[in-house]
Amino acid sequence: MMEHTRIKDLLKSEEFGKEIIVKGWVRTFRNNQFIAINDGSSINNIQAVVDFENTNDEVLKRITTGAAVRVKGNLVESLGKGQRVEVKATEVSIIGDSDPEKYPLQPKKHSLEFLREIAHLRFRTGTFNAIFKVRNALAFAVHKFFNERDFVYMHTPIITGSDAEGAGEMFQVTTLDLNNPPRTEEGKIDFKEDFFGKATNLTVSGQLEGELAAMAFGNIYTFGPTFRAENSNTTRHLAEFWMIEPEMAFYELDDNMDLAEDLLKYVIRYALDTCPDEIEFLKNRLLEEEKSKPQNERSELNLVDKLNFVLENNFERITYTEAIDILQKSKPNQKKQFKYVIDGWGADLQSEHERYLVEKHFKKPVILTDYPRAIKSFYMKQNPVDAQGHETVRAMDILFPGIGEMVGGSQREENLDKLLARMEEVGIPAEEMEWFLDTRRFGSVPHSGFGVGFERLVLFTTGMTNIRDVIPFPRTPNNAEF
Ligand code: 4AD
Ligand code: MG
Repeated sequence: MMEHTRIKDLLKSEEFGKEIIVKGWVRTFRNNQFIAINDGSSINNIQAVVDFENTNDEVLKRITTGAAVRVKGNLVESLGKGQRVEVKATEVSIIGDSDPEKYPLQPKKHSLEFLREIAHLRFRTGTFNAIFKVRNALAFAVHKFFNERDFVYMHTPIITGSDAEGAGEMFQVTTLDLNNPPRTEEGKIDFKEDFFGKATNLTVSGQLEGELAAMAFGNIYTFGPTFRAENSNTTRHLAEFWMIEPEMAFYELDDNMDLAEDLLKYVIRYALDTCPDEIEFLKNRLLEEEKSKPQNERSELNLVDKLNFVLENNFERITYTEAIDILQKSKPNQKKQFKYVIDGWGADLQSEHERYLVEKHFKKPVILTDYPRAIKSFYMKQNPVDAQGHETVRAMDILFPGIGEMVGGSQREENLDKLLARMEEVGIPAEEMEWFLDTRRFGSVPHSGFGVGFERLVLFTTGMTNIRDVIPFPRTPNNAEF
């Protein structure tokens, strides 16, 4: 048994008078008397009241912000405002000093940008304590959701030889000497000499390997890091992000959408139920932040109301063709206020269009289906050509207020010949994909899946605005610190 009690438990305790030991880091030390201590177990601190007249001056001097302390004392009812219990200290000792001259955090508000540069202390702030507790709850809920439904958690590889999305946004993995790589007779770099005997990269998605597993286990999911070398310096993109990718045999597009909607609602509800203090804290943080904005730019709903709104309403389901129609008739399109004006069917939707649909038109999450074949990945199931001659695929993207695309998925093309024809069209060499194509050769079945961008889910649930603030160590163009 540890000799100390976690602050989270002390704050709930009714055992007044009991002798206890607290260990944690000093948030503030006021009037040579009141130490606010935090041990990470709660966003709230416990206050220890020091009897400074009977405490060694040398020790008092070393109770500085950031220092690690051990406090022995009695749990008592607090007379002060803002807390129910406190510790009447009988013995204070310093476990680890913190030089106040050098300590970078001051007892004032720091910008999120500044905090990103000091990863070790960022974790010790209330905001980031709350964010990473919510992130933890969401991750746990993902596993709980799938486990309750008998999905098999499948670990797909991080190093692969294929480009699952066919978008060419991959980080290469090599042990070749970049200053003097081996060459073929034609003068090209000879990857046969490389570690794996071929060119490899970090995975952009575990989907293709996941499809193999679904063709044997029925329902599987992956949940792991994925990597994209896209040069998108936005508040929604990371070069390294976590993705949840379920893949289900015998599921068609409607089943796929139902599962995705259930999953998102389940994990958000779990976070609300298990992290009420953290979400309340984040709600107030957001209200505070929005005070500096003009009234018309503030959110209509606070964070808790917004999360509950998503739980209580069905996501709107419309086709891409219907969406284009809405967008073409929309005010910002007619007045040419969109940066990319929609002038007809086939246009790829930009985030301004997605946000219009979700935030202005429907005011709730929207599932867009049946996108033009030309703008989607090679593996998506091809629809019969429609009356207008439009070629579409059984794709579905889930768009969220303030976030844009949260989920991308589809029913898969299970017909070998159609899949081969599409691969040839977009220039994916079949010989490198035989292992994948075999799923369509030996007992092919209709199947579907989707990918949830985990950080976008955390972003929505915490009400934060920059994706860099919801991952412990963000990787973005020109930044791989720590
Ligand atoms: O739409 P995407 O590219 O789909 C896939 O990778 C499919 N293989 C998924 C599947 O069907 N199994 O990515 C899925 C989601 C996006 O909707 C978005 O939420 C997130 O992953 N995402 C990113 N998140 C952060 N940073 C990036 N650079 C992201 N790129 C995609
Ligand atoms: Mg997508």
